[in-house]
Amino acid sequence: MNNSLFYKYYDKIYSTKNYKEESSAVLNHYKNLKGNFPQSIIDVGCGTGSHDFYFAEAGCNVAGCDLDCSEIKIAQEKAREKNINNINFFCKDVDLIEQNNFELAVSLFNVISYITDLNYLEKFFTAINKRVKENGIFIFDCWNGTAALLDPPQVKESTIEIQDEVIKIKSVPSINYMRQTVDVKNSVEIISGNETNNFEFNYRQRLWSPEILKEILNRNGFNVLSLNKAMNFSVEADYSTWKIMFVCQKK
Ligand SMILES: C[S@@+](CC[C@H](N)C(=O)[O-])C[C@H]1O[C@@H](n2cnc3c(N)ncnc32)[C@H](O)[C@@H]1O
Repeated sequence: MNNSLFYKYYDKIYSTKNYKEESSAVLNHYKNLKGNFPQSIIDVGCGTGSHDFYFAEAGCNVAGCDLDCSEIKIAQEKAREKNINNINFFCKDVDLIEQNNFELAVSLFNVISYITDLNYLEKFFTAINKRVKENGIFIFDCWNGTAALLDPPQVKESTIEIQDEVIKIKSVPSINYMRQTVDVKNSVEIISGNETNNFEFNYRQRLWSPEILKEILNRNGFNVLSLNKAMNFSVEADYSTWKIMFVCQKK
């Protein structure tokens, strides 16, 4: 993979995702539960921080962490450019974040699906649990493994036009039913005037079933308050809802 092109185009590739609406849906749901916006948020797997700037704009103090230091570097540069001082970005495992007592923890855009190992997932939830205050809230979205096994992901092609650039993305998933994983191979073509550049980025998603996730969350200090359609807290998810959202509370 051409890493430098991947990071250069990271935010453009995901530019059709409505981060503003998602961030406000999360904050409003927290407000419905607790009566006010959270004062402090930890975003685990924050990537380039796209949700965090909206959280900060709403007055929350935000800590974002990710294992990918190149994404964190982009997030830090954006924070500097925007002159925002209520966000801190860390290239660190959540277990190494020193601050705790966060009112809200989030892990958005399938971070949990990227975790393919059960032991690691248990440690990940425990580490998040340690960083939220008593009765604190943890919200994450992920693929619904049951729905994905019944209705496997298909090849997807999309084209994004930004200023004078055209970005074509083809995503080819390949499912492994025994391991319950999906490997997604993404081929990207960037057309900029007469110049064309290509690169690939690939990832593996684990098809966690909602029931297993509930059990793991329970074992690691969380009660599940609701299981909803992703970013739609008024719709309850069922076995066929492809993208789901867990709302949990620290026990
Ligand atoms: C699709 S990106 C989402 C990034 C960001 N939350 C967003 O909405 O744009 C998934 C992110 O999960 C991060 N990730 C995967 N496993 C992780 C882990 N164990 N701890 C922290 N971040 C992780 C990846 O580095 C990547 O940035």
